Amino acid sequence: EDLDLGGFPHYMAKEIQEQPESVERMIRGRLDDRFGVARLDGLNLTPRELRGFSRVKILGCGSAYYVGQIGATMIEELARIPADAEAASEFRYRNPIIEADTLYIAVSQSGETIDTAFAVEEIKRKGGRVVGLVNVVGSTIARACDGGVYLHAGPEIAVASTKALTNMAVGFALIALSLGRVRDLSNADGQRIIDAIRALPGQIKAVLDDEPAIAEHAKAAATAKSLFFIGRVRGFPVAREGAQKFKEISYRHAEAYQTSELKHGPLALIDDSLPTVAIVPADELADRNLAAMQQIRARGGAVLAVTHENVDFGELDVPRIVVPRTEPELDPILLTIPLQLLAYHAALTLGYDIDKPRNLAKSVTVE
Ligand code: G6P
Repeated sequence: EDLDLGGFPHYMAKEIQEQPESVERMIRGRLDDRFGVARLDGLNLTPRELRGFSRVKILGCGSAYYVGQIGATMIEELARIPADAEAASEFRYRNPIIEADTLYIAVSQSGETIDTAFAVEEIKRKGGRVVGLVNVVGSTIARACDGGVYLHAGPEIAVASTKALTNMAVGFALIALSLGRVRDLSNADGQRIIDAIRALPGQIKAVLDDEPAIAEHAKAAATAKSLFFIGRVRGFPVAREGAQKFKEISYRHAEAYQTSELKHGPLALIDDSLPTVAIVPADELADRNLAAMQQIRARGGAVLAVTHENVDFGELDVPRIVVPRTEPELDPILLTIPLQLLAYHAALTLGYDIDKPRNLAKSVTVE
């Protein structure tokens, strides 16, 4: 088994490093430059059917649910269809209303998560159309869906998911393109997104090259008993996934919050013992994010910003992890990568079992 590690100390480290190639596999043959659209034959949906959906509902568990939230934002932005993500584990217990003009998307690395499989079952029983965004070929969820997009991330061994999540996010970008291009998304905008998707593997490589600096930030973060991860709109699911990963393998309490909600409560907790990881992309909310970071600093809280080169921090002197810019709609894909390394190196510093964290299973196949 150790041979499979290919010289890496842990599967998680190996899987993080594999991401440039696994994203290449995800997009291979799926980008159509002539029409600025994604080719996703496995969805089994005609352009007419794609046009007929007036809502998208995404279902997954754990990290897959958070990537689903990233996907919902991409679909709303690129296709302008109302979209949201929900924890699959809750779905069937609230007697959900299944609509014929809703596209349901089940997202799962293993394709065996029982909660997600039951959600698919519930949708199908009530006549809904459900497609899968699944890694393991021929898995239970992949077989149960009406069609889907395989992630081609390759086997993922570490309990904490990394490369499969990144491919899920890229998969949502492809689905958003497909839904957008049969509606109002222009050929030029489709092409803009395609070009950006094609650049992702190289940009992920650039983030990974920053690992030594991120490892230093992680050592500092590992000393805290509790951390906040904050972000807004596109950045919020990134913060949720960052906090989740940190909790899972470093056993530190980490809580994700919308940056905008900080002042409505949790700001009361901020002092010099509670650091914050802030997601600050160079988008229309950068100024507001800066103001929130100033409020945290004014109360003695440490801040680590995950941001872009061209965000002007002015007087605010906080450590930063800088990721390359892509098209704004795709920002979450790259902003998530340093948070994987942050969690990994925090757990490494603390000496925990990175690939097999206590109390967790790679795939939860019982309710
Ligand atoms: C488990 C794992 C999580 C994972 C979730 C969904 O809880 O510990 O890391 O995100 O299942 O798994 P799936 O295989 O459906 O993506």
